[in-house]
Amino acid sequence: MCGIVAAAARREVSEILLEGLRRLEYRGYDSAGLALLDNERNLLLHKQLGKVAELERAQQLEPYYGCTGIAHTRWATHGEPSAVNAHPHTSGARVALVHNGIIENHQQLRARLQEQGYQFVSATDTEVIVHLLHSHLIQGLGLVDAMRETVSLLEGAYALAVIDVEHPDEVVGARQGSPLVIGVGIGENFLASDPMALRQVTDRFIYLEEGDLALVTPADISIWNEAGERVRREKIRIDEAVESADKGAFDHYMLKEIYEQPRALAATLALDARHRVADELFGEGAAAVFDKVQAVQIVACGTSFHAGMVARYWLEELAGLPCQVEVASEFRYRKRVQHDNTLLVTISQSGETADTLAALRDAAPGDFLASLVIANVDNSSLVRESDLVFLTRAGVEIGVASTKAFTTQLVALLMLTIALGRRRGLSEDRATDLVNALQRLPEYVQETLELDRDIEDLSEAFIAKHHALFLGRGIQYPIAMEGALKLKEISYIHAEAYPAGELKHGPLALVDNNMPVVAVAPGDDLLEKLKSNLEEVRSRGGELFVFADRQAGFASEPRVRVLNMPHCPEVVKPIVYTVALQLLSYHVAVQKGTDVDKPRNLAKSVTVE
Ligand code: G6P
Repeated sequence: MCGIVAAAARREVSEILLEGLRRLEYRGYDSAGLALLDNERNLLLHKQLGKVAELERAQQLEPYYGCTGIAHTRWATHGEPSAVNAHPHTSGARVALVHNGIIENHQQLRARLQEQGYQFVSATDTEVIVHLLHSHLIQGLGLVDAMRETVSLLEGAYALAVIDVEHPDEVVGARQGSPLVIGVGIGENFLASDPMALRQVTDRFIYLEEGDLALVTPADISIWNEAGERVRREKIRIDEAVESADKGAFDHYMLKEIYEQPRALAATLALDARHRVADELFGEGAAAVFDKVQAVQIVACGTSFHAGMVARYWLEELAGLPCQVEVASEFRYRKRVQHDNTLLVTISQSGETADTLAALRDAAPGDFLASLVIANVDNSSLVRESDLVFLTRAGVEIGVASTKAFTTQLVALLMLTIALGRRRGLSEDRATDLVNALQRLPEYVQETLELDRDIEDLSEAFIAKHHALFLGRGIQYPIAMEGALKLKEISYIHAEAYPAGELKHGPLALVDNNMPVVAVAPGDDLLEKLKSNLEEVRSRGGELFVFADRQAGFASEPRVRVLNMPHCPEVVKPIVYTVALQLLSYHVAVQKGTDVDKPRNLAKSVTVE
């Protein structure tokens, strides 16, 4: 995680850097900093604990100006969030550096540097890099060569940007395992973790590849690959209007993004002229791959993992394909046995999640038939490194807790199920029913959004609670998991999800009148069983909150509050019910006064292991 932005220009860049940081805050926001080189080659530094707004305040109180600079917003790994541990880190009052990633051999390097007399002021792994760089610079190397020597000693993951008072026009960047992109301007050039950080200054970008080193000056860009050879990398134009990163009339990005779902779902559901799911939507060559698929392995993290869990029910039931789903951090370290012709499917909003990317990279050649990524960010690392790609059309998602990205992933996964199912006995009629249900999905979601006020009323019962239980059965179990995750992420209430049938095997012991129990009970064929599970809760004094189809036969009564959900086809219920649970968590968090869009300790894009 952490966000990097850097500039080499002929104009003053502090505001460009701050604007870049505001746009990168989704990558971490526990502290922030900025280093500038002024006209007299002074290295000026602001570092603040807290959000980028604190850094802005510091800059307002004591403005620093310069044409060359680097800036950083941090998500702490080594060393607590503090001004001292915030980046940029400096060495010898000469060089300043920002870093995204983790240096695994920092202890050995630190010991070596201490022997050479370097004094460490922070508890970060990053500080070793800046002292190492300094040690090479004072031997007379230029900034690029010193950087090359430095990174050759690093083990781990990094995206770096550095400035040096002796090379006042230059910013040098390097990447290995963490993203870094060059923004190409006119008479000015930039570096950033994500193009979004630079959209106010350019629409032309060069993605650095693993092991690349780049020198950026106002007039030039030079890139070297891992072997030290000068290389040219493709310049791409991102002219797709990046959606306004503006909350509009909404109080929070999360709420705006929840309300954007009808549009995002409709945009993701791309059908051909005959209203069918075309194989080509998944990329060139998808048809030939799909013909051979005999099993599916899904790998993802966080909310995206829950999307994979839902998809397993669809793929097995509708496409008759064995499907395994695993969190990436487990998958990558496990000895696995793979079915023949398994399609590896990664799911990621950002396309940059370190564990998911590592899982893709670690998948041994020959283990999988092909890789497919379902991602929301074009040109992200997972998109660039997968054989097949489906891009969801959620638009930029700023709220750390994923909402519209998740529901659009589900649409993509149902489309994938239809494409694969057609080859494995899914009838045209059934496929048409599924497509029809998807086409009407935005309507059902809109109807759910209209329940917002009722859901807000329900949410009051959670504010004073410390724990909550979410129950679901079958395909709604992962939706209960997603509901619990949303609640814990943004309201800090401890929430657990259980398949309703497991209740009596443990969690029932926790149920009393301090434990609200949320049941996702759409009224499918497991309804009767679920009803008895719910009775078990009620008879222990628990308070129940049932999200049920308005035709399911649930009525509110003492200690049971029912939210009547729109009646809709079974297959889209996981998506529709998710929206109600998103609203529930949102309202609980707002009433608890937490920072809904930037919950403590979390980050939107997790680019460290
Ligand atoms: C972080 C975010 C989650 C997200 C997860 C996976 O934990 O806070 O919202 O679900 O990463 O991210 P990805 O971009 O791979 O979907």
